[in-house]
Amino acid sequence: VNSVKVSKSTPVTAAIAGASGRMGRQLLIELDAGTDLSVCAAWVGPDSTLRGNAVPGTTLSYGSLGQVAESPQVVIDFSHAQAFDAVLAWCVGHTVPLVSGTTGLSSQQHERVQAAADVIPVLWSANFSLGVAVLSRLVAEAGRALPDWDAEIVESHHAGKRDAPSGTALALGKVLAAARDQTFDDHAVLSRNDLDRPRQRGEIGFASVRAGDIIGEHNVILAIAGERLELGHRATDRSIFARGAVHAARWLVDRPPGLYRLDDTLS
Ligand SMILES: NC(=O)c1ccc[n+]([C@@H]2O[C@H](COP(=O)([O-])OP(=O)(O)OC[C@H]3O[C@@H](n4cnc5c(N)ncnc54)[C@H](OP(=O)(O)O)[C@@H]3O)[C@@H](O)[C@H]2O)c1
Repeated sequence: VNSVKVSKSTPVTAAIAGASGRMGRQLLIELDAGTDLSVCAAWVGPDSTLRGNAVPGTTLSYGSLGQVAESPQVVIDFSHAQAFDAVLAWCVGHTVPLVSGTTGLSSQQHERVQAAADVIPVLWSANFSLGVAVLSRLVAEAGRALPDWDAEIVESHHAGKRDAPSGTALALGKVLAAARDQTFDDHAVLSRNDLDRPRQRGEIGFASVRAGDIIGEHNVILAIAGERLELGHRATDRSIFARGAVHAARWLVDRPPGLYRLDDTLS
């Protein structure tokens, strides 16, 4: 992702949903750093005190969802699951491609993403890092090779993260389940709090750590009596997600309607 070059001859305008957040701010820095995407709208939540304030490094002001001076060619959304439906509906209503990294979406929201893909190009990813895209491939391979091993996924994030397990942990669990011909919902154990029993065969267990300023760590453990395989990824800088999302946005603008994955953008 990091090595992708974009053409300077075709500038693209992007609206950012969740512009005041950690990821939104990082996206603004990334877009200011010489990509050929320019920000044309910076959307924040309905209760944000930033509305009307100047967006650093631009001539724009923070606005509410859908507030635009000129229509964007793509929307990049890193907001909140509660905001997501409105962002998606706006993109469908205005036929604007959507790149989203918002996590904590319900299965109904994922179904709405699927339906929207009939009308617009949509690329949703729980993780916009290239390393995690490759981790995902390795997890699939390990799951196929070791179908009977116990699988546990441990993720760690900063104290401010709201959803748990992380969207990336869930996505890795789904990759593992598919590789082992399992139905994810029948085998995922998201918490062991209320379980009064030992581990069952075939379970995919999850554990979440929330502490300090951890950007994001994922560790997939496959274990059997006498040995353990661990596949892991550690993000140390939030800019990797912003860079991946900008690359995905630039790529998505020229696609027909459909549901795309970050993996599709990698040559
Ligand atoms: N896919 C990836 O690679 C990746 C990487 C990092 C994070 N994420 C995900 O991206 C999302 C944002 O993360 P973050 O760390 O930037 O969170 P954050 O710092 O809490 O920022 C959230 C942003 O969303 C806005 N927002 C919250 N509720 C809203 C609502 N109901 N309507 C409209 N806007 C609303 C906030 O606006 P206010 O200022 O008004 O609160 C803020 O701009 C999370 O779901 C996170 O898990 C994904």
